[in-house]
Amino acid sequence: MNGIQSMLDSAGPQAGRIEGLWWLFFWVCAVVFALVMIALGMAVVRSRRREGHRLDPLLDPPRERERRMARTVGGAAAVSLLILLGLLVASVSTGRAVLSPSPPDALGIEVVGHQWWWEIRYEDPVPSRSFTTANEIHIPVGRPVRVKTRSADVIHSFWVPNLHGKRDLIPDFPSETWLQADRPGVFRGQCAEFCGHQHANMSLIVVAEPPEAFEKWRAAQLQTPPPPATPLLRRGQEVFLALPCPTCHTIAGTPAGGRTAPDLSHLASRRTLAAGTLPNTRGHLAGWILDPQTAKPGNKMPAVALESDDLQALLAYLESLR
Ligand code: CUA
Repeated sequence: MNGIQSMLDSAGPQAGRIEGLWWLFFWVCAVVFALVMIALGMAVVRSRRREGHRLDPLLDPPRERERRMARTVGGAAAVSLLILLGLLVASVSTGRAVLSPSPPDALGIEVVGHQWWWEIRYEDPVPSRSFTTANEIHIPVGRPVRVKTRSADVIHSFWVPNLHGKRDLIPDFPSETWLQADRPGVFRGQCAEFCGHQHANMSLIVVAEPPEAFEKWRAAQLQTPPPPATPLLRRGQEVFLALPCPTCHTIAGTPAGGRTAPDLSHLASRRTLAAGTLPNTRGHLAGWILDPQTAKPGNKMPAVALESDDLQALLAYLESLR
């Protein structure tokens, strides 16, 4: 049952409750199924035995048989009702527990669904300590995380099965949930509500790490990328700013301030490109820039034509954004 995207491998209290409920349903249904099969088998064997010799009406009068049958059916119906009632109570109480408000010491993040990527905003009462990233959530192990959710366009659903239950992201209907990881690990999440052409390529990862590693990551994300230090990186930045990229993407410390596509200020620190569609390597990055419609047809990133030198400079620049 192990897996980076499995609700049967829960890594925190929220997913643990759902997994517990799943196993309760599984075992109850398995036992009921086995009992029904045994009863069916017994009935078949008995009716075989009876075949050939007629029932003696004196030994087994029809009235008596009917009464016995009514008792059996009535008993089975009552047991079924009790089992269903028990499962209903377990289901409702799990739902209530999962929907409980987040604990007060929770870390606050906001997840915004876009066609087809995830905007992740880390909130802090001090605005200069807030930052935005995309498709990769880092959380400290053992601390609850309050997740505010909303959608920028259509209905999406935020779901990281190892950590929590689904939460629909509905336009104009901000909502909230919380999750917690009790062990370090990398967990995969997937949009769980059909949202258009690239719904299947709308994934994200959650990196649960020890608090010190998380603080280190957060400090790095808060940094404004230093100005390009070499002629190659300077050329790369010029190429980026001359292309249509800044209309949609932000790179902190530059005039690029678009908000409709992932923030690229720390692009090179992320593990994937295009919301989990491609690994974040130089080759994939080049392919994604030159021909994004092949990797993810229908996505909103336009292809750009680039001379080889310009492409190499741009790649070097983007890879410097750690
Ligand atoms: Cu977003 Cu499916």
